[in-house]
Amino acid sequence: MEKTFNIVLLGPPGAGKGTLALEIEAQTPMSVLTTSNALRAEVKAGSTLGDEISDLMAKGKFVSDDVIFKVIEESIQSDQFQEGIVFDGFPRTLAQAEFFTKHDIQIDILVLLEIEDDVIIDRMQGRRVHIPSGRVYHVQNRPPKKEGVDDVTGEQLSVREDDQPEVVKSRLEDYHRLTKPIIAWAEEQYQSGVVKNIIKLDGAQDFESVWRSFVMQVAALTDE
Ligand code: AP5
Repeated sequence: MEKTFNIVLLGPPGAGKGTLALEIEAQTPMSVLTTSNALRAEVKAGSTLGDEISDLMAKGKFVSDDVIFKVIEESIQSDQFQEGIVFDGFPRTLAQAEFFTKHDIQIDILVLLEIEDDVIIDRMQGRRVHIPSGRVYHVQNRPPKKEGVDDVTGEQLSVREDDQPEVVKSRLEDYHRLTKPIIAWAEEQYQSGVVKNIIKLDGAQDFESVWRSFVMQVAALTDE
């Protein structure tokens, strides 16, 4: 793969990965690759695989690594990613993290969004999404200009099926069991492997503070 500047966003469900990814896309030439949006596109295509994916996503369960590898391999070939990729929702297992090592794809910055589970469970109840574009709102923290509708298209916003409290709890359990070990993997890789930099953000702060901290830490890296 041709060398691009890559950012990986890692954190529990509801930590704010999607919100940060869209802001990076808005403020830089980089493009976001959100695995769940790519999976939703597969569901929309109406294949048998799409039905299986839809069922797993509604229950908040991980889709198999093999399906994810196929989605990622197809997506990263696209011209839209020539200026750099913001990976939102990948990797989510150690096997997925090894994809970077195996294909010698450098992670220039791994962003770790840290936040406690109880903050997430509360926060998820207020999330509203515009499914076709992936734009994310929150009824209190980041409300749309007009209640219940997307700022850009004026279309209706939805509550995600997997944002029900019981499903969020199960997603958090899977995060701790399957995704969190990637942090130790990244620390091992740091500087000697594919991970060049790691930055940590307090995801429980308001989004403006999260963004300011991201910009300052990235600027400090590029000044080094
Ligand atoms: P995905 O959509 O990626 O779900 P997730 O990782 O669980 O993350 P979320 O989208 O729920 O949260 P987020 O961190 O992006 O937070 P957001 O910015 O929306 O994946 C869904 C499903 O797809 C998975 O369960 C799985 O089935 C499948 N899947 C996807 N990738 C996979 C993979 N690699 N392997 C296997 N399966 C995979 O923010 C949340 C809310 O908080 C919003 O309302 C937002 O407005 C608000 N908010 C954001 N930041 C702040 C802030 N700082 N302060 C206050 N509110 C904030």
